[in-house]
Amino acid sequence: MRAVVHDRYGPPDVLRLEDVERPVPTDDEVLVKIHATTVSRTDCHIRQAKPFMWRFFAGLLRPKRRILGIELAGEVEAVGSAVSEFEVGDHVFGGSAGKFGAHAEFICMRESAPLAHKPAGRSFEEAAAVCDGVIQALACLRAADLRKGQRILIYGASGSVGTAAVQLAKYLDAHVTAVCNTKNVELVRSLGADEVIDYLQEDFTKNGETYDVIVDAVGKHSFIRCRGSMEPGGVYIATDLGRFMVENPLSALVTRRIGDKRARFPIARWTKKDVIFVKELIEAGRYRAVIDRTYPLEDVVDATRYVETGQKTGNVVLTLNGVVR
Ligand SMILES: NC(=O)c1ccc[n+]([C@@H]2O[C@H](COP(=O)([O-])OP(=O)(O)OC[C@H]3O[C@@H](n4cnc5c(N)ncnc54)[C@H](OP(=O)(O)O)[C@@H]3O)[C@@H](O)[C@H]2O)c1
Repeated sequence: MRAVVHDRYGPPDVLRLEDVERPVPTDDEVLVKIHATTVSRTDCHIRQAKPFMWRFFAGLLRPKRRILGIELAGEVEAVGSAVSEFEVGDHVFGGSAGKFGAHAEFICMRESAPLAHKPAGRSFEEAAAVCDGVIQALACLRAADLRKGQRILIYGASGSVGTAAVQLAKYLDAHVTAVCNTKNVELVRSLGADEVIDYLQEDFTKNGETYDVIVDAVGKHSFIRCRGSMEPGGVYIATDLGRFMVENPLSALVTRRIGDKRARFPIARWTKKDVIFVKELIEAGRYRAVIDRTYPLEDVVDATRYVETGQKTGNVVLTLNGVVR
């Protein structure tokens, strides 16, 4: 089968298409023929091995996992003898999460993995672009214990995590203020944000407004700078390590004991339950994946270069087999 592989850490050019052995499902696995996947920020961190600590997970000297890709949508090609939830021909979507391997024509996933039937009426392209943002956004909102009527500010609302966080916070009936660039104001409003702040025109930390929850969905802010915009008892949620790769975990540690405002740095866990939850939200018309650009798998290097501009809106999709519907 065709797959995008990399044998050393480095710039996008280390990625190349190669013919590799097609995986064979064990008794409790399904073999999925992938029609669409994405290039995520996580793929980029791993490929660059930046920050360095990723090497402890991905391989100290060279990548242990040659094939990247954490989310996918496709068709069940074969099932193991113990599989009961899926049948050959089912349309599915989900995430390979820590195992990667979705930048390929086929992947084997356990039946119990974060995999579910594709939302009815949605394309493979759309379904592939759901899980990474949603799973991380859910981790953020859960860490904040966001409740109905609370005021939440989502900084970096136009990214993959940000577009998911805005929609999920609205689903939870919070009052959502989204912060993004001028060009994304209308998009973010269309996702349900009650208020939108254009960060090129206004600095939300200086306008006197305060929030119960602030989520930095793009790794550009900090607890220290947001403190004055938080209500007493408020929570700041980080999605990245922050400055010197310790700022956010350190803020989380210190604020457990000191002060009346807390910082949290949640680690997302991928579960089947959450994939089914978002499938139901999509089918109820309460969630949609935002797709910026779509590339064929062969153009993975260009797609990756674009993701690394840090300016994608929502998600960047790779399609295989020419099938996107
Ligand atoms: N901990 C985890 O498990 C986990 C999982 C997934 C992602 N993440 C992290 O979460 C972060 C977000 O990932 P993502 O994929 O959502 O990012 P992304 O989609 O690449 O974010 C890009 C978006 O952020 C906006 N942006 C860029 N600079 C900004 C700034 N200074 N202020 C406000 N908005 C800005 C960009 O729009 P403009 O340039 O037009 O403003 C663009 O729309 C990443 O740092 C990633 O590492 C963590």
